[in-house]
Amino acid sequence: MIVNGKHYKTVWYSSEDNLVYMIDQVKLPFKFEIISFKNYVETAEAIRTMIVRGAGAIGAAAGFAMAQAFVENRDEDFVNKAKEYISSTRPTAVNLFYAVEKVYAAGMVSTLEAVNAAVEVAEEDEENCRRIGEYGNSLIGENYRILTHCNAGWLAFVDYGTALAPVYVANENGKNPFVFVDETRPRGQGARLTAWELNQSSINHRVIADNAAAFYMSGGRIDMVIVGADRIAANGDVANKIGTLEKAIAANYYGIPFYVAAPSSTFDRNCTSGKEIIIEERDERELLYHTGPDRTGQMVEIQLASPGSHGLNPAFDVTPAELITGIITEKGIFKPNQLLDNLK
Ligand code: MRU
Repeated sequence: MIVNGKHYKTVWYSSEDNLVYMIDQVKLPFKFEIISFKNYVETAEAIRTMIVRGAGAIGAAAGFAMAQAFVENRDEDFVNKAKEYISSTRPTAVNLFYAVEKVYAAGMVSTLEAVNAAVEVAEEDEENCRRIGEYGNSLIGENYRILTHCNAGWLAFVDYGTALAPVYVANENGKNPFVFVDETRPRGQGARLTAWELNQSSINHRVIADNAAAFYMSGGRIDMVIVGADRIAANGDVANKIGTLEKAIAANYYGIPFYVAAPSSTFDRNCTSGKEIIIEERDERELLYHTGPDRTGQMVEIQLASPGSHGLNPAFDVTPAELITGIITEKGIFKPNQLLDNLK
């Protein structure tokens, strides 16, 4: 990704000093900062607190954390504890478990193998996203108006993204795409992160309230929907950011194509249907309060709900396979029920 004219990745690793680097996504879009993490506990906490977030970026960060643990101490108890700790950070995105398992298995051979495997996970993520962009671009026509939910762009992966990758390629090909950006309450990954990314690439877009999408669909103003995925079950059910299900239902009602873009590392063939996917419940404070700069630029937290009221905050929901037009992967575009035969 290009930020202020310079190329960045969302997360990367330096083997010289065993440091993991990340763009701090909590501070975006108001501040662009890179932070480094010196051990697996710090990297795991960055995942838990969403300094790094998004399925692919979480996977890469988790892989690096596992590699850091092997570098810190190869003792069996130490690395097993590290594996458990990293795996406990966020339960829904399967990319995290994919990366941890892969790096752990490589680490059983040698520490160098663990580091190489972690770097491979990150490189694979980047390359897969690039291909998703190419495949997805084939679905986008001139001047298409595309709705997306949450952030499945560069920031959610190591680079390129998934749902936004086709938009970037379409833009490079002069198709002039326009993006409706769902704000994506409670944390606002659409309004904060997707909008920031699209600004960096000068792509035409508007942020809309989460409950405005059906209005625009009903008026014939949305040509297609593309969202990302945190886990895809063997039957093609898709877990993605809370609110995705509503968009799929509305798109289906209005006959608007609803696509999911995800690499095969998001496909969980051990999970038979979406019913088995663990949905992360996050702190109610994410819903009841919001943080941002005041008029002087000072970061402040404000209360949004009636004092004394409590909230419920599921981070994801599951969209049934039958509402999904197609899944854009690095291996091609498939119907949800064709994934089992075509992935991994
Ligand atoms: O909770 P987050 O921000 O880690 O949410 C995950 C996501 O980024 C979205 O669900 C996204 O659409 C999936 S693709 C990375």
